[in-house]
Amino acid sequence: MSTTPLAGKVAVITGGSKGIGAATATQLVSRGARVVVNYGRDTSAAEKLVSTLGADNAYAVQADAASISGVEKLVKSTIEKFGKIDILIPNAGLLTLKDVESCTEEDFDRTFNINVKGPFFLVQKALPYMAAGSSIVLISTTQCYASTVSAPYTLYCATKGAIDQLTRVLSKDLLAKKGIRVNAIAPGPTATDLFLEGKPQQVLDAIAGAHPGKRIGKPEEIAASIAYVVGDGASWVSGQTIKVNGGLA
Ligand SMILES: NC(=O)c1ccc[n+]([C@@H]2O[C@H](COP(=O)([O-])OP(=O)(O)OC[C@H]3O[C@@H](n4cnc5c(N)ncnc54)[C@H](OP(=O)(O)O)[C@@H]3O)[C@@H](O)[C@H]2O)c1
Repeated sequence: MSTTPLAGKVAVITGGSKGIGAATATQLVSRGARVVVNYGRDTSAAEKLVSTLGADNAYAVQADAASISGVEKLVKSTIEKFGKIDILIPNAGLLTLKDVESCTEEDFDRTFNINVKGPFFLVQKALPYMAAGSSIVLISTTQCYASTVSAPYTLYCATKGAIDQLTRVLSKDLLAKKGIRVNAIAPGPTATDLFLEGKPQQVLDAIAGAHPGKRIGKPEEIAASIAYVVGDGASWVSGQTIKVNGGLA
């Protein structure tokens, strides 16, 4: 079996410089893909990752993944550099913890823009450059499936619910029309900036303690599932939201 099953493939990952995105970029490069690492503000983190992965294998592109002009810039830069897109991972997201009473219009727009609008229009802009056999992986959350969930997840879950429906409908449309598979990965709590930010150790311990495995997931564990679903071994997997959470939900 090849150790580089993704050789010749070009992947685009929004929010690819940190957390789940960076772990995914690392695993895809280790399987032979070349990866476009999109990021928002932190150029040094993106450049550090590119230098670790090798400039022949990874290419950093600053672009706002929440805006149409940003995703257009990302697609244009990718095509200028690599000429095609085989794997599209609209991963960048925002966890805005707001219940319905405290949510402002600005919170709503900011969160929907990065979690839903960006992925939607990135797919639209990338599609002309994606051939049959390509793969799209959207990022949902296990919070959409947990039997208990707290009120501050209201806005976030509304955005990720939209991602699940996008996955469901797009998968039918794009496999039929273009031979492109569409799936989503729904991570459980995973140790990244997005999840850890603002949570005291006591809260983290409580979350880990409530988990059947008594720990929080690692970005590499989510990345491994993404690497599986974009590979040939998942050639008959489409339209699925795959929960990756150590049995939490
Ligand atoms: N971590 C979890 O527990 C968890 C659980 C379920 C689902 N998820 C989902 O997994 C995805 C990745 O989350 P994560 O935890 O890996 O996040 P993270 O560690 O906070 O990483 C965020 C990444 O997104 C980039 N980014 C932020 N705003 C951006 C923008 N407007 N345009 C382009 N890039 C932007 C950041 O780059 P800069 O720093 O340069 O801006 C960084 O590369 C999200 O969709 C999240 O909802 C995470």
